[in-house]
Amino acid sequence: MNIIELHKINKFFGEGENRVHILKDVTFSVSDGDFVAIIGQSGSGKSTLMNIIGCLDVQTSGIYRIAGRDTNALNPDQLADLRGKYIGFIFQRYNLLATLPATENTALPAVYAGMGAKERTARADALLTDLGLHNKLGNLPSELSGGQQQRVSIARALMNGGHLILADEPTGALDSKSGENVMEILTDLNSKGHTVIVVTHDHNVANYASRVIEIRDGEVISDTRSRPMPENPPVIAARHFESPSLRDRLGARADQFKEAFRMSVQAILAHKLRSLLTMLGIIIGIASVVSVVALGRGSQAKIISDISSMGTNTIDIFPGEGFGDRHSGRIKTLTVDDAEILGKQMYVDSVTPNISGTSDLVYRNTTVTAQLNGVGEQYFTVKALEIDQGRLFTAEEVKANASYAVIDDNTYKKLFPSGGDAVGETILFKRKPLKIIGVLKKQEKTFGPSTDTLKVYTPYTTAMRKITGDKHISSITAKIRDSVMPLMAEKNLTALLTARHGKQDFFTINTDSIKKTIESATGTMTLLISGIALISLIVGGIGVMNIMLVSVTERTREIGVRMAVGAKRKNILEQFLIEAVLICIIGGILGIAMSRLVGVVFSVFVTGFVMAYSPGSMLVAMACSSFIGIVFGFIPARNASRLNPIEALSRE
Ligand SMILES: Nc1ncnc2c1ncn2[C@@H]1O[C@H](COP(=O)(O)OP(=O)(O)OP(=O)(O)O)[C@@H](O)[C@H]1O
Ligand SMILES: [Mg+2]
Repeated sequence: MNIIELHKINKFFGEGENRVHILKDVTFSVSDGDFVAIIGQSGSGKSTLMNIIGCLDVQTSGIYRIAGRDTNALNPDQLADLRGKYIGFIFQRYNLLATLPATENTALPAVYAGMGAKERTARADALLTDLGLHNKLGNLPSELSGGQQQRVSIARALMNGGHLILADEPTGALDSKSGENVMEILTDLNSKGHTVIVVTHDHNVANYASRVIEIRDGEVISDTRSRPMPENPPVIAARHFESPSLRDRLGARADQFKEAFRMSVQAILAHKLRSLLTMLGIIIGIASVVSVVALGRGSQAKIISDISSMGTNTIDIFPGEGFGDRHSGRIKTLTVDDAEILGKQMYVDSVTPNISGTSDLVYRNTTVTAQLNGVGEQYFTVKALEIDQGRLFTAEEVKANASYAVIDDNTYKKLFPSGGDAVGETILFKRKPLKIIGVLKKQEKTFGPSTDTLKVYTPYTTAMRKITGDKHISSITAKIRDSVMPLMAEKNLTALLTARHGKQDFFTINTDSIKKTIESATGTMTLLISGIALISLIVGGIGVMNIMLVSVTERTREIGVRMAVGAKRKNILEQFLIEAVLICIIGGILGIAMSRLVGVVFSVFVTGFVMAYSPGSMLVAMACSSFIGIVFGFIPARNASRLNPIEALSRE
């Protein structure tokens, strides 16, 4: 049976005027088990013919059948399959992958043919051992002599069975001793049933063959047989690759994926600095996105908790037209009656009128300037203030204008620098005696104006009637029932007071709406800065694409070798895509790590609030970087997979 049949094969190179006719009506067949030498001078078209026989290149016209199949009817992947499973190539320059040890170079065709990892390593080792390389299994090609490398490439050719062995000048780069050795191995393989075709310009090499075909200027000029074909040539057991079970196919795919992954890691590690520099864009991009989001969330949380400490669900009513109204201090519009009427509204939980004034505070022989706040008994609940010593005043005491005072932590520290019990002591504010009944806890979180003011709290009745004599109050704080929407309450309350006063001579501050405003403001900021950071991610992605394009160019020959031993387009695509995605994911992880580092440094220098990292933003960052890997890795990976194997192989 003929394993190959060539019928009027023509090959042209170039276009238009540069079009050259390299192979001219080449017609011959090779039967199974034969040993053929194709001989001819340099430039006669031997390699071109060999590439067509090896399904690495296609003829311009004519019919070529291999194992009965017309190659014209096969697509690139089917051709790759054919190469992988039937043909073993031996190149003049060995074409071993520089980063893989002998065993793995040998096993490569089996990866693409779908053989399990254990099985293929065992087979590769056995083949290498047969060829006398048992002590070189783990060596890289650079650690082997030319003859040894050529033996590794023979082992690789045999890996998937090597039904048809194609050797293009296999001895060309070797000294005569190693050359003889290689030819003896090929002769031996032929005697075991392998069909061997050798291309050479050397008659000594051709003498090993049973049949010599000579070509000149692309034409067959002689075809002579020196040894007859044996009657019953041994047949190598056909390896069964056809229609494996789904499970086997999936297993093989998983194995190929694993292999592609490993190769990608190797490729990244082979150029550590370059990989790191490539990742830098991604690292900076991811680190800034994650940090900005964490910073935004952290500051937002801080502000919100500060606002919460102002009291939850409260509405403050001040005289004047708004914050910064310079006359608001002098405008006297709010009265205790206003507060009382507000207190009777359904939607109001509690109300406290506030009155404040600043004056000298005297305790024994210490005089300080303090702010007196006349408040209702509910003020402390509304403002979430807690007691440290003593107690707060009661509703009865407010009604009875009791001369009691609660002082804050600042005042306590000023008046009682050596500590001790303040409760029961008497202080003078505007020369009016007030008895201290309680001291407030230090307020950790503060929002708004300076916190150094000394504050003394007394019932508003006491403040109005005994101390200031004022008929008006400086503000009203209303706590809204939980079931009521703060905005609705604010609207109602504004309408009510406007009606009472005849005009709106006051303004309201709703902690809830402040909270919302701040939330949306920090949200917008975060979005904005994240957007800028995103641009750096894209720049990083372009960097990745650039380096992948370089990587593909650099490894064109490697791609060619992989294709020659049976890698399909999707295998090549997969490998480069994995590499790009891997670079981006590692960059992403390093970016997150860097951002955490920023957080640690930040927490050392900035006290008060921490960066709030959210797993969500990190996940998004990782997804982003994988996505960038896929997007920017795709074009280089596709370029690689679309390479013509023969062009790839001839690239230096
Ligand atoms: N891709 C190509 N484009 C244009 N011309 C080509 C191409 N490949 C080969 N040729 C030409 O085809 C002719 C045959 O080349 P080929 O490589 O087949 O020669 P060869 O017989 O193998 O020679 P050698 O013994 O030096 O290896 C040469 O003249 C070469 O210049
Ligand atoms: Mg050649």
